[in-house]
Amino acid sequence: MTDVVTDEVPVVRLDPTGSDHHGEAARMREAGPVIRAILPGEVTVWAVTRHDLLADLLTDSRVSKDWRNWSAIRRGEISDDWPLIGMVKVTNMVTSDGATHQRLRRPVTKTFTRGRVERMRPDIERIVHGLLDDLPNHAAADGSVDLRQHYAYPVPMNVICELVGVPEPWRPRLRELVDSIFRTDTTPEEVVRTQTDRQRMLKDLVELRTRESGEDLTSALIATREQDAESFTDEELTDTIWLLLTAGHETTLSLLVNGVRALLTHPEQLEAAREGGEQKWSEVIEEVLRWDAPIGNFMARYPLEDITIAGVTIPEGEAIIAPYSGVGRDPEQHGADADRFDSEREQQRHLAFGGGPHICLGAHLARMEAQVALPALFERYPNLKPAADIDTLVPVPSFFSNSASTFPVHLH
Ligand code: HEM
Repeated sequence: MTDVVTDEVPVVRLDPTGSDHHGEAARMREAGPVIRAILPGEVTVWAVTRHDLLADLLTDSRVSKDWRNWSAIRRGEISDDWPLIGMVKVTNMVTSDGATHQRLRRPVTKTFTRGRVERMRPDIERIVHGLLDDLPNHAAADGSVDLRQHYAYPVPMNVICELVGVPEPWRPRLRELVDSIFRTDTTPEEVVRTQTDRQRMLKDLVELRTRESGEDLTSALIATREQDAESFTDEELTDTIWLLLTAGHETTLSLLVNGVRALLTHPEQLEAAREGGEQKWSEVIEEVLRWDAPIGNFMARYPLEDITIAGVTIPEGEAIIAPYSGVGRDPEQHGADADRFDSEREQQRHLAFGGGPHICLGAHLARMEAQVALPALFERYPNLKPAADIDTLVPVPSFFSNSASTFPVHLH
């Protein structure tokens, strides 16, 4: 992708096929601490490429997360079939500020407590062990198994669907819809179809859980609304459920893929994790989150007034993306060897779960899924080997998601 410099601020064109994720992130960092980025449809946004500057931005009350503050949308320049619209024009806590953000986040934090997540551990273990038993049944003609398809994907998908109360027969279509939202190379027709199907499925889910309520989060959110009609509009309720489904699935799937990828290419650190127990696994998982963060770039924050960062003024109403995987390898934060996977490193602090008021509220669940799924995989299949060159795995066609789209391995 060609990089150009306009108006003194360097510009990097983001590749919607995600072909060289970390290379692109490095070029963004090298271009400067505050740069402009070109998205599909020639939509230009800003990016803050340093860990400390991004950490400050995440807590800066002068920036909004509400897409209604993006002047390009207000001017009608962003249409409803823009490939990234599904990441922008939603009405839930991620795209709201202040009191509205609190109103939408609180009911979820109230029902999605640490205790509830801890109580899910046996369910996660059951799901993980069932999938491990089943893995050999998915071997291709050459004996390899696609670990993304048959392990990294179904672990979080089943966990989040059980948590949210999605019936099993709906899950394959749900998966297609989530995949489509995260891709950055979709056609306008697909965008419109995805949005329509997504809305229909969520409406059906709310109707189902209103008729047949259970222990799941959808039922809990419906109960909250029954007690307090002001808590959610219909759209806010379905978009909040959608947020949980998407945020809880694609990201954790990438964490598992990236974790296995890192450990198979760093066997000495895999050995240390196997010997070191829970604490060591936790360090490994934090290092995967830093070194190969599941979220590449995240949409968007909109300054409510002109703001100056590292001497560059970003005008009010522009969009700023957060390059989470890029700042994970920022040498100013992590040292000259930031590119190296090293679970022993002292400075593990990362922004893979964001920061400030919008910090990920599923971080505990994601860490727990990885804490169960990664050791169990290597325990069950101690001779697990990649079936293809790990460096040439085809990436997910996206600059939002940072992972491989297939991951063939030999189990024995
Ligand atoms: C490894 C897995 C995960 C990663 C890397 C991740 C990352 C993130 C990041 C970076 C944000 C902040 C986005 C921003 O506003 O800039 C975020 C927010 C969020 N995440 Fe996660 N996430 C993960 C797993 C989960 C899970 C399992 C759930 C829930 C089931 C979840 C639910 C959420 C929600 C609801 C928000 C929005 C919070 C708000 O706007 O107040 N995430 N996540």
